[in-house]
Amino acid sequence: MKKTLCIASLCSTLFCQVSYTNQIQPIFNANCTSCHVGGGAATLDLTSYNGVMSGGVSGLSIISGDNENSLLYIRIILPEGEAGSMPPNDPLSQEEINLIGDWINEGANNLAIKDSFLPQSFTLEQNYPNPFNPSTTILYNLSSDELISFEIFNLNGKKVRTLVNEYQNTGPKKVIWNADDNHGRQVPAGVYLYSLIAGNVKQSKKMLLVK
Ligand code: HEC
Repeated sequence: MKKTLCIASLCSTLFCQVSYTNQIQPIFNANCTSCHVGGGAATLDLTSYNGVMSGGVSGLSIISGDNENSLLYIRIILPEGEAGSMPPNDPLSQEEINLIGDWINEGANNLAIKDSFLPQSFTLEQNYPNPFNPSTTILYNLSSDELISFEIFNLNGKKVRTLVNEYQNTGPKKVIWNADDNHGRQVPAGVYLYSLIAGNVKQSKKMLLVK
């Protein structure tokens, strides 16, 4: 129950992607497919993801990542009654328009809720200073009590240092890395990845050690 609520309330924010299957197709089914069926008078087929992406007589209706240049978006934001506005004389709600716009700008992927990104239980900041020598600081903030592991990898994917591996409470945290490995030796200059895993959510960022 808690998870469902989170998804519903966060999906229009940065934390979660709009789901085509669960959020976009239902809008088309309710407002568009009475006319936009394969081979119908309006050649654009809005009954399936593949149909939507294949476009209509004017070519592509969706330009992935760019709602302002996507014909479908241009048509749904036209004022009611204006030539070409969709659905004709029966506009979508602002919320539905925003959802479609966000979906296009997020890449117009064919995702269902179960595949889309779940809200994160933490935020992870960029290290500072960066580039750095001899040490750098990384801040993160937990929104729930979690088993935390904070690790550093080199670009070959080899773990060089574990900085945290314990239960931590909600709130802001800080780690400092002195460019050493788990045996206390200094590591060579180069790009490193730091990774925070909280429960089953993982996020990584890059940093550069200079000598
Ligand atoms: C009452 C029937 C009807 C409904 C409902 C309707 N459309 Fe249309 N649509 C048309 C017709 C007819 C055309 C072709 C004429 C034109 O381009 O205006 C068209 C054309 C389009 C085009 C241009 C396709 C191309 O390649 O030129 C887009 C995009 C579009 N509709 C999107 C939608 C969307 C999105 C919805 C639902 C939110 C919708 N339409 C609902 C009848 C409809």
